[in-house]
Amino acid sequence: MMTASPANRVQVALGDRSYDILIQPGILNQLGQVLQGVGCSGRVGVVTNPVVNKLYGIEVCRALTQAGFSPFLIIVPDGEQAKTVQWLAKILDALVIQRVERQDMIVALGGGVTGDVAGFAASVYLRGIPFVQVPTTLVAQVDSSVGGKTGVNHPSGKNLIGAFYQPRMVVIDPRVLHTLSPRQWIAGLAEVIKYGMIADKRFFAFLEEHVEGLRTRAEDVIPHVIRRCCEIKAEVVGGDEREVGRRRILNYGHTVGHALESWGHYKKWVHGEAVGLGMVQEASMAQYLGICSKDVVECQDDLIKRVGLPIMMPKMKFLDLWQAMQHDKKVVKGDIHCVLPRRIGDVCVVPLVRESIRKWFLVQQQAATKAAKVFRKPASRPRLARKK
Ligand SMILES: NC(=O)c1ccc[n+]([C@@H]2O[C@H](COP(=O)([O-])OP(=O)(O)OC[C@H]3O[C@@H](n4cnc5c(N)ncnc54)[C@H](O)[C@@H]3O)[C@@H](O)[C@H]2O)c1
Ligand SMILES: [Zn+2]
Repeated sequence: MMTASPANRVQVALGDRSYDILIQPGILNQLGQVLQGVGCSGRVGVVTNPVVNKLYGIEVCRALTQAGFSPFLIIVPDGEQAKTVQWLAKILDALVIQRVERQDMIVALGGGVTGDVAGFAASVYLRGIPFVQVPTTLVAQVDSSVGGKTGVNHPSGKNLIGAFYQPRMVVIDPRVLHTLSPRQWIAGLAEVIKYGMIADKRFFAFLEEHVEGLRTRAEDVIPHVIRRCCEIKAEVVGGDEREVGRRRILNYGHTVGHALESWGHYKKWVHGEAVGLGMVQEASMAQYLGICSKDVVECQDDLIKRVGLPIMMPKMKFLDLWQAMQHDKKVVKGDIHCVLPRRIGDVCVVPLVRESIRKWFLVQQQAATKAAKVFRKPASRPRLARKK
């Protein structure tokens, strides 16, 4: 039986719904043994998508079979299209057909999309059956697999249908991150930087010192990074499971980020890229409102840029941005509550006043246009010496 030493285990303390996050390179091979510790036996519905199934499906099913489980696959499509009520219904159909019972279990093997829809299915099937998160993207390993937010999208908005439903365990194998595309990898780094900004200036400094390791997915850097992010998320969620207070700080970069995602019809940026841009904008807002100094903004933006994330805002109208921000779930009685940085490692939640944000936006766009002009100005051509 695989042992979870304190070095590779983080606990999410939620009373009788507490669970462990195990972080260990190669742990995927031992998934069956690990799950014996959850107290389940019998059938395991492994929810995954074709991309992840091709890479890790066989390995996971073999590990489960070797430990005495009977796994069966439930394949959902790749991408955000799997997060719909239609695909939720298909997962439920598969569970019914397989006659899955209460002591059986669901394993969500994949990124945030798979984890969100599989977790939601687990929460409603037979009024809740055990589920385990096996996240395979950086976003999922440092963020979406921990904390129990599950759900699907509605045509009129993201994550509008869902439930708080905690997994029995989160099993993280950092090794699987090597097959992620460079774009998905870098996008995940935005969420990593977010943790430094909201809660831990020492971690932020560590990230600054290890940019090369972050970019190259260095094996001596990544497990530590994942662990620290999970510790912060576990601590925040443990104190505010349902997001009535402190958990809101996890939304730093997301008010503008979600607005940009929806403005770009979820095609222009992947989630992490939009969050990175959102952090750049929200820090700039905080400076404009006198909440943080210029140094904070420069430090943050520099790190975001160095890891390879985009930082240029598209040309857009203030009203488009403001309206897209209104659709965020974090709007309370019409007020947009936004997480803004005070210092590196310290943020506050502030209601945004439309007029001051409009002024900030104009100043911001003017500066961007000016910078773009300077950038585009052709270099003066060297004069040719005139022949006599
Ligand atoms: N529940 C939460 O608390 C929470 C938090 C953050 C984000 N989310 C949700 O998570 C989703 C985004 O998650 P994501 O960024 O993981 O996207 P994703 O699940 O779509 O995965 C991104 C891509 O990577 C591929 N992939 C996954 N693992 C791979 C691997 N190991 N190697 C190669 N390719 C791999 C996937 O097939 C997909 O094409 C969004 O729907 C967002 O709303 C939820
Ligand atoms: Zn996010």
